[in-house]
Amino acid sequence: MRKKIVAGNWKCNTTVKEGVELAKSVNELVLTKGAKDVVVVLGTPFTHLTSVVDAVDANRINVASQNCAAEPKGAFTGEVSVSMIKSTGATYVIIGHSERREYYHETSETLNKKLALTLEQGLTPIYCCGEALAIREAGTQNAFVKKQLDETVFLLPKEQLLKVVIAYEPIWAIGTGKTASTQQAQDMLAYIRGLIAAKYSKEVAAEISILYGGSCSASNANELFSQPDIDGGLIGGASLKAADFLSIINAY
Ligand code: PGA
Repeated sequence: MRKKIVAGNWKCNTTVKEGVELAKSVNELVLTKGAKDVVVVLGTPFTHLTSVVDAVDANRINVASQNCAAEPKGAFTGEVSVSMIKSTGATYVIIGHSERREYYHETSETLNKKLALTLEQGLTPIYCCGEALAIREAGTQNAFVKKQLDETVFLLPKEQLLKVVIAYEPIWAIGTGKTASTQQAQDMLAYIRGLIAAKYSKEVAAEISILYGGSCSASNANELFSQPDIDGGLIGGASLKAADFLSIINAY
């Protein structure tokens, strides 16, 4: 059975102190009121990982980095390797977020290195894909997302793909308040699941958690999560408020 996952992506927000406070609030709310069958992940800045891991109940809250180095170690000033991330107690790594692809020019080749290192260290990649507005307007979003997946996660053998969480985040919906319609989100996630079924098998497709991201909020999560192929969300802005994040966790 595939998992329901609600993952927060704090992006470049909060000081360590603020992040720990936020993590503690989320922890408290999730332990007392959170839906038990939803996997909760907090994607924090690198600087916060250790403190946030220490602040939460490891049996209930998972911690993610938002990126990782594409090399295992060495002379790469400013980079943070997967083994460093692992040593903090974090268990997930967000890979290929559109902001990284766009502002830091991350290519499929780079993402493949990050995926390999993450899987090698036994951490769970949350692999992001999604199209820009011009592509959506041209109606070529399916081909675009297929290419992103073909060049990266679909090169993995079945056993490894089964360890990956996929997040579809249309760029035009990220941080804009303009969510994809429930139908647009469901259609794309069903399309991705269909691609997995065709390339691997129906059984593999049924096992992979596929998340929606892009202005997912306390007010629209319920409708989004009611769709058969939407297994949860990758949440940016709304993950910075513990009460909103809890409402999304409880939106199933
Ligand atoms: P948003 O961000 O929820 O603020 O749109 C989602 C994301 O980029 O992961």
